[in-house]
Amino acid sequence: MPYFDMHSHMLCGVDDGAKTPEEMFSMLEMAYEDGTRALCLTPHYSPYLFGDTYEKSLRAFEQLQRYVAEKHPDMRLFLGHELGYHHGCLEALENGSCRTLAGSRYVLVDFPEGVDFFEIQAAMDRLMGAGYTPILAHTERYRSLFKRIDWIEEFMDRGGVVQMNASSVQGSWGLAVKRQWKKLFRLGLVHILSTDGHNLTTRPPKMSACAEYLKKHCSPEGIRMLTWENACRVMRNERI
Ligand SMILES: [Fe+2]
Repeated sequence: MPYFDMHSHMLCGVDDGAKTPEEMFSMLEMAYEDGTRALCLTPHYSPYLFGDTYEKSLRAFEQLQRYVAEKHPDMRLFLGHELGYHHGCLEALENGSCRTLAGSRYVLVDFPEGVDFFEIQAAMDRLMGAGYTPILAHTERYRSLFKRIDWIEEFMDRGGVVQMNASSVQGSWGLAVKRQWKKLFRLGLVHILSTDGHNLTTRPPKMSACAEYLKKHCSPEGIRMLTWENACRVMRNERI
């Protein structure tokens, strides 16, 4: 069963992900070896941290496309951004400097770990009000959502999308995050699992990090939805 990794910082020289073309190609090889056959590249769009990443990410994407065409023609690549939510972000989405995922209405949105609950709530309302479908990046990591299961349910009911990181189930972000990951999983409050891969060592692009858990707790059909099908629907701008 192939994997679709929809959240990745593999593009080099853009943000805190891969630093060199060599590292980017090695990450691609690691993902391919792990079974990934489709990737959406999502460099940070956080102007205060990384400046304008539009041009740099496009150049790195084209470089990766050329590499893949030659070495792994069965690998599919898509381009997006991971929006670090801030006040001016709607303008950035409207003028195109921040990309949606593969040109769809889906926006991958990230907040600092310690973000206040009401800030997440207001941000999601604002994006939905503007006609976008927010995908909440690594939902398991926000402490302010640990006791807001009711809001996560409501967010999903309204069409919001929940993404979790594959490696969090192994405890890569600590015990509390691991617990929240399992809780959301058990309650069916997740649409898409991705790696959020940043490098080859501490945050590798390995979807298989959660494979063992999935095999024990999920049907093959369910696994396919979480690790392939729902991401494909996002790329096609279809409803999940
Ligand atoms: Fe990320």
